Amino acid sequence: MNIILLGPPGAGKGTQAAHICEKFNIPQISTGDMLRAAVNDGTKIGIKAKKVIDSGNLVSDDIIISLVKERIESQDCNNGYLLDGFPRTITQADSLKLEDIKIDYVLDVQVPDEDIVTRMSGRRVHLASGRTYHIAFNPPNLEGKDDLTGEDLIQRVDDDEDIVRGRLKIYHKKTEPLVQYYKADALDTNTGTKFIAINGVGSLDEVQERITSALVS
Ligand code: AP5
Repeated sequence: MNIILLGPPGAGKGTQAAHICEKFNIPQISTGDMLRAAVNDGTKIGIKAKKVIDSGNLVSDDIIISLVKERIESQDCNNGYLLDGFPRTITQADSLKLEDIKIDYVLDVQVPDEDIVTRMSGRRVHLASGRTYHIAFNPPNLEGKDDLTGEDLIQRVDDDEDIVRGRLKIYHKKTEPLVQYYKADALDTNTGTKFIAINGVGSLDEVQERITSALVS
């Protein structure tokens, strides 16, 4: 099962991805997490990407496409995978078609911009694993510490309100057109793609329930 999670920054893609991947036993491929790991490891790509990520802009299509291509060739992707944060441009979506990659589900998690600004201001992240919390909506067991490792949680530089508003602008311009792109694919019976809009407003459990029932029905 190959799944794409679409949606604006902060819609809850990473939060929900963890549950979907556990339920369907497929790996989560988060381009954001991959890039942050590269930044942390000081790789060539990481050094190039750091400024772009911190400023809320998109990393170039060629870098992202080659990262994803390499990742989905791994053995753990043989039974499918969940793409979280990819594709984000029409060029990136076209790259999947060029590789003849069949997408079973596109889940578009919808959340209004103002809710996103609130969510991002309270987000805390465990950098090494990508596990995400929210100080009010999904707090860790111990303030400021990851539940599994006990390591420190951080606030992402790109979660600053002005940067979040910039990321939302970029989302509406470059990524939102993918909604129509995949709706058109879903109408074409040759693709086998199903497009499902998910209301991302509500508790974490409510959103999870909407996604699970959409995937099993
Ligand atoms: P990336 O890490 O992918 O960022 P994003 O898509 O902007 O998404 P986020 O991780 O910010 O949010 P999310 O939807 O996963 O929400 P989350 O679950 O954390 O990318 C970062 C950067 O890398 C990009 O800006 C770009 O520079 C680069 N990049 C990555 N991929 C790229 C690509 N393909 N092309 C080019 N550049 C790329 O939830 C957010 C918060 O809300 C959390 O605190 C969470 O606890 C809380 N929350 C979740 N659900 C709920 C709920 N139902 N109610 C209340 N709070 C909730």
